[in-house]
Amino acid sequence: MCGIVGYAGNKEALAVIIDGLKKLEYRGYDSAGVAFLDDGELVVVKSAGSVAALEGAMGERSSEIKTGIGHTRWATHGRPTDENAHPHRSCCGEIALIHNGIIENYRSIRQRMLDQKTHTFSSETDTEVLAHLIEENYEGDLLKAVRRALKEVKGSYGLVAISSREPGRLVCARQDSPLVIGLGKGENLVASDIPAIIAHTRRALVLEDGEFASVTMDKVEVYDHKGLLVEKDELEITWDIEAAEKGGYDHFMLKEIMEQPAAVKETMRQRINASEGRVDLSELEFAADQIKSFEKIYIVACGTAYHAGLLGKTIIERLANLPVEVEVASEFRYREPLLNDKQLVIVISQSGETADTLAALRLAREKGVSVLAITNVVGSSVSREADRILYTWAGPEIAVASTKAYLTQLIALYLIAIYFGEARGTIEKKEMDEIVNGLAALPAKLKSILTEESVSRLRTYCEHLAKWESAFFIGRNLDYPVAMEGALKLKEISYIHAEAYAAGELKHGPLALIVEGIPVIALATQQAVLDKTLSNIQEVIARGGAVFAITQEGFNDVSKQIEAIFYLPPTDDILAPVLSAVPTQLIAYYAATARGSSVDKPRNLAKSVTVE
Ligand code: M6R
Repeated sequence: MCGIVGYAGNKEALAVIIDGLKKLEYRGYDSAGVAFLDDGELVVVKSAGSVAALEGAMGERSSEIKTGIGHTRWATHGRPTDENAHPHRSCCGEIALIHNGIIENYRSIRQRMLDQKTHTFSSETDTEVLAHLIEENYEGDLLKAVRRALKEVKGSYGLVAISSREPGRLVCARQDSPLVIGLGKGENLVASDIPAIIAHTRRALVLEDGEFASVTMDKVEVYDHKGLLVEKDELEITWDIEAAEKGGYDHFMLKEIMEQPAAVKETMRQRINASEGRVDLSELEFAADQIKSFEKIYIVACGTAYHAGLLGKTIIERLANLPVEVEVASEFRYREPLLNDKQLVIVISQSGETADTLAALRLAREKGVSVLAITNVVGSSVSREADRILYTWAGPEIAVASTKAYLTQLIALYLIAIYFGEARGTIEKKEMDEIVNGLAALPAKLKSILTEESVSRLRTYCEHLAKWESAFFIGRNLDYPVAMEGALKLKEISYIHAEAYAAGELKHGPLALIVEGIPVIALATQQAVLDKTLSNIQEVIARGGAVFAITQEGFNDVSKQIEAIFYLPPTDDILAPVLSAVPTQLIAYYAATARGSSVDKPRNLAKSVTVE
């Protein structure tokens, strides 16, 4: 999720690179750097902070610099510091590289290098091992060295390397992290995202996984994983800069909804082993006895993160047999909760800066309670102050309405529940196998929900919904928090007043509000309560409510009773909230666009609420 720009051409390379980095900076980054050849010498300048801070650190540079690479970082491994910023350099100082993605086996490579005393390390990042590996494999051809180095690597990468021994040449490689090559006249560029290149060219090649490329000012050669030359079709870029920043989508929110399969996959990466049916959260450094000793968990968060917590309660209680209380942070902090050292507080915050959540974290720590933070932002206040951190790797979320961060928060909670369940001996191996395999299958299932064909199933209903000023979401059991989150999303971006009810509560009051045509979105993904939910849906239909059901394929009783249905691919009921959230996000999105609302920046709201 970091930004990459590489340049080889006849213009002033640093001006082009800095301009490209600025075009990527709108997503918010924490550090930046460049590497270039100045009079045959490889120079690296990098600093924590913005691209403007980097420009300051660079000072005046020769206009004769024609090749270079630049990077904006969104910290993953290692804090946002000068040292951890990219580019990273090999020990000999002749090779530098920038990298997006995660090198999963970097610890063992680093240890091997330290044991052999072959390299010294100057950062905490996973990326630095790549620079050293390329150096180890370098015999005069950077492309070959990169290919050989990557054979030792597990993980994802979009990378660009340069060497002072091959001036004018960029070498890049891709696996699970995007790279495009912009084709210019007397110049070629490499970038992680299109906005960085469109000021220079509208012609591009998109690298596929397993491909490598050698790029100079007048030649681009792409190779497959076997080292064979590949003929690539050119892509003509027709987007303007604003559309390009949104990946061609009309709004960041839609782009972020579409990024969910990748965000979920990234958050599980290295933490689940599907073949062994296990979760590994050793990164949290809990002793098994400590996990066994907990008597209660508090989950504290705000807004969407609170809804993730509500789901976490049922999931953790079920799998780890541990009582969980979930509280809105602004309430928790002022109500003098009964805290003691047999408890664990889990705070959830996408931004890691929400004032109430941060205050709740501080309160818990003051009372001697250990705090585990689930957050998306490395270096955020929450991440700095918590005892333990479980990062969600959703990447920068720009739209005010949280989507991909929410889904990855859910994943983090499943991982905790399974990990704790195993440590506490409360989950059967068979069940653990099933759920872990179910988790591994989620990215593909999410992709299938996000196809145009699938999305088209809810558009007509959204046109109807958009005409109303009030709507309801109902569900039972795990479907109830999903309904709450669906209602929040709809309120937030379409300004339609939406209420979520536990379906069984309808008859205790809200049924009085059901009138002919009123939109009611019914979540019906939980087999154990399906009959009951269907009865509640009938109560609504009988009063003329316009029901849209979200259910699992194979739940045939639903289709016998309701016409407007969105089917999710079948999944273990406990995992259904990850899938069912997506149609609710899309319903909110299409209702909001039908009403012409400001989707990415809804009125009165901020992305991160840093005041009380
Ligand atoms: O950054 P945080 O996760 O702490 O933010 C919490 C809420 O402000 C946030 O989830 C808010 O409710 C979203 N705008 C909902 O889409």
